[in-house]
Amino acid sequence: MALKVAEIIKDLYLIQTPELPFVSNSYLLILSNNGNKINILIDPSPLMYFNDLILTLKDLIGGVENLDILYVNHQDPDVTSSLPGLMSLSPNSMLITSEDTWRLVRSYGLDKERYQAIEYFPNKKVILRTGHAFQFVPTPFCHFRGAWMVYYPTKKVLFSGDLLGGIITKKTEDIYANKDSWDGIKIFHQIYIPSMEALRLAVDRIGRLDPIPEIILPQHGDIIKGDLIVEFLKKLNDLEVGLEHILAQEKKEATYLYAFNEILQKEKERFGEKYVMERLESINSSPFFPEIVHFENGVALDFRISPVSAIGLLYKSFTEDLSPWDRESIKSDIVSVLLKYNLDLPDEVIEERVSIWDNFRRILRIFQR
Ligand SMILES: [Fe+2]
Ligand SMILES: [Fe+2]
Repeated sequence: MALKVAEIIKDLYLIQTPELPFVSNSYLLILSNNGNKINILIDPSPLMYFNDLILTLKDLIGGVENLDILYVNHQDPDVTSSLPGLMSLSPNSMLITSEDTWRLVRSYGLDKERYQAIEYFPNKKVILRTGHAFQFVPTPFCHFRGAWMVYYPTKKVLFSGDLLGGIITKKTEDIYANKDSWDGIKIFHQIYIPSMEALRLAVDRIGRLDPIPEIILPQHGDIIKGDLIVEFLKKLNDLEVGLEHILAQEKKEATYLYAFNEILQKEKERFGEKYVMERLESINSSPFFPEIVHFENGVALDFRISPVSAIGLLYKSFTEDLSPWDRESIKSDIVSVLLKYNLDLPDEVIEERVSIWDNFRRILRIFQR
C-alpha cells in the first residue's frame, strides 16, 4: 500500500502510512537558498514501508541519495527502523538526534561519524548553510527520556514527535485535525505518556515558543493548526495520563465493570442480546486496539484501555447510525448508571448532553416569544 503524500506549505511534505486509524507521519522539508539545497527527513516512515518511502523520495527530491539530514525525535521503531537503509543509500546524510536516543539507535550498527548530537549545538539552535534556523526543544519523558521536538520558527511549524499525536477518530479524510480528533489524541496520550508532570512541562514548553507555532506536525494522526492548537494544549494540560491514570483507574475499575455490565444488560433488554453482542464484537475487533473490553460469556471482565474512554468510545461507535431517540435512551442509561456509582461520565456523552440542552433552550426561547 502506497504512502499518502501531501504538501503542507511550500516545500514541506507529509508522508503518511495508510494504516488507519493508527497512521505514522514522516515529514520532508526541502530548503534552498543561493544554489544551496538541503533535504531533511524528519521521523522517517517505518521499515515496512521502506520501498514506498524510496519511491516517494524519488518523486519529491530526485532520489534517496539526495537526503542531507535525517532527524528522529526518539528511538522507537516507527521512526528509526528505516535509518540503516536510508543512511546506506544516502552516503552524505547526517543523523541528528539526542544522545539518549543515539545510545539506543546505534544498535542498528550506524556510523558514529555521521551522527550529530543535539546537545552539542550552542543554545540548542542550528543555522544551516542555506541560512534556515531551527530550534531543538526537549520534552523529557514525552514519551521517551531523550525526546526532542524541532521548531522551525520562520514558518511557525513545530515537529512534535509523538506529542500531540493520536489515533485518527475524526470522520473526514482531511489531513488536518478537527474537534473530533481530540478523542484519538486523548487515548494515545493516556497510553503512551508516562506522567502528567512530564506532559505539563512539554505543554508549557510549546506555550513558551516564540513566535507561537501555527502548525503542529505530530508523528501520528492529524496535523493541528489554528485555534485547535491552544484548545488541545489546554486539554492536554488537564489530562490524566500514565502512571497517575493507571493507578486512579485501577481503583475504580471494578466499579466501572459493574456499571458497564449493568448498562449492557439494559441495552440487551432494549435491542436484544444478539444485536448488542454482534455490534460490540465488531467494534471490539479493531486491528490496533483488539478488545477494548474483554468479554467472557457475554460478560465484561476487563478493560484494555481506561474504562471511561472505553465506555465513551463504545457509546460513540454503537450509536453512530441509531435514531436520535435510541441514542438518547442509551445515553440516559449510561448517565444514570455511572452517576449512581459516582463514576466519571465520558466526554463523548457530556458534550452531546450540552449540545442537546442548547437545542432545547433554543426551542424554549422560540415558544416564549
Ligand atoms: Fe514513540
Ligand atoms: Fe510514534
